[in-house]
Amino acid sequence: MDKLLIAGGARLSGEIAISGAKNAALPILCSALLTREPVTYTNVPRLNDIGTLLRLLEQMGVKVSREGDTVTLDASGVDNPVASYEMVKTMRASILVLGPLVARFGEARVSLPGGCAIGARPVDQHIKGLQAMGAAVTVEHGYVHAKVPRLKGARIFTDMVTVTGTENLMMAACLADGETVIENAAREPEVVDLANCLVAMGAQISGAGGDLIRIRGVQALHGATHRVMPDRIETGTYLCAAAVTGGEVRLTGTSASYLDAVIDKLMDAGCEVIAERDAIRLKAPARLTAVSLRTSPYPAFPTDMQAQFMALNAVADGTAVIRETIFENRFMHAVELQRLGADIKIDGNTAFVKGVGRLQGATVMATDLRASASLIIAGLIAEGETTVERIYHLDRGYERLEEKLGALGARVTRLR
Ligand code: EPZ
Repeated sequence: MDKLLIAGGARLSGEIAISGAKNAALPILCSALLTREPVTYTNVPRLNDIGTLLRLLEQMGVKVSREGDTVTLDASGVDNPVASYEMVKTMRASILVLGPLVARFGEARVSLPGGCAIGARPVDQHIKGLQAMGAAVTVEHGYVHAKVPRLKGARIFTDMVTVTGTENLMMAACLADGETVIENAAREPEVVDLANCLVAMGAQISGAGGDLIRIRGVQALHGATHRVMPDRIETGTYLCAAAVTGGEVRLTGTSASYLDAVIDKLMDAGCEVIAERDAIRLKAPARLTAVSLRTSPYPAFPTDMQAQFMALNAVADGTAVIRETIFENRFMHAVELQRLGADIKIDGNTAFVKGVGRLQGATVMATDLRASASLIIAGLIAEGETTVERIYHLDRGYERLEEKLGALGARVTRLR
């Protein structure tokens, strides 16, 4: 099992390119199931989660061709609208094939994703929406089985804001008979990117990015080419890494416009952040100031940046209060950060982080994707060597992480 060895103390400086967004690419690649024509996607990040999804699509009969960060999918020959437990258990975002399969083939069997380290992660809203559109949905033997001659447009109100729930239902509605309205929709930029891709394929969608999305169903979608948006969480992660090391970096192929809440917090912590047309620059202070935060759906502070800011606050001046309101168990990085000497107290969904003068290197274990990122960030400034184990979590969501960190001056080695 791969590990990362980090020698702390290097100040990050220089320039790296940001990859395409994992959480945009995953639903966008599933959109190919909605048409018989080939669809080409560019700026697709080379990540394990993307590889897992492409294998799942191939199992269904999708023809996959990949050239660097360009992927072309041809779903004309799909003859197996099933997503098996073996595939889905390794990546819960596989649930995103459910909506497109039901919309195009009138039937789908998709394994329930099951929980993961950060929470139970139910998909009841995905099911509720498909039922509202007329699908007969049963959940038996760990599989969601949905069947309907043709989905019908409906008005859907999700009980909570759900990103992949909104994306699944938006894709399903593209081929439904009539208009669908999704209320309480997720406003994340990745939802907008998916909507833009679907419109390029001939879908009729308005309101994406707001909390009410209208989709007028059409008979069929056609092929298109779509460039995946930049990864705002990868961007935020490297900004945090530069901030804790007192560094100065420039991240290209990305945009500050999706990161207002995160940039506000970095500036409150004392960083100078300069937005360019398709780049972002950060200059860190000698010592950071603690920043409290509360995670909420977009455009508020993203839960996917909470762990990274816990590492930042571990060495900032003062005490920060971090509230996690999206997932019920997303503080597992805290105990690992404590092994590095962080002063963190957890009370339910609230973490109290008191900045310390310095952290000491140690061996720590990654538990989920963003927790791994927070341990890397802490290792960059811990005294001595930090070994992060189980970094397969990292490889799911960060492309060539040690190469990019190395290019910024970090001393990071992957141990096989
Ligand atoms: C997406 O997960 C992201 N994943 C997550 O990123 C991200 O943390 C999350 O949105 C929140 O922003 C992808 O886009 C592939 P939700 P998703 O449905 O869609 C509850 C990462 O690190 N809920 O918005 O699964 C749910 O339990 C990952 O890149 C239901 O109860 O999250 C959670 O408490 C981690 N029933 C809340 O809603 C449902 O049917 C928000 O979940 C759906 C969700």
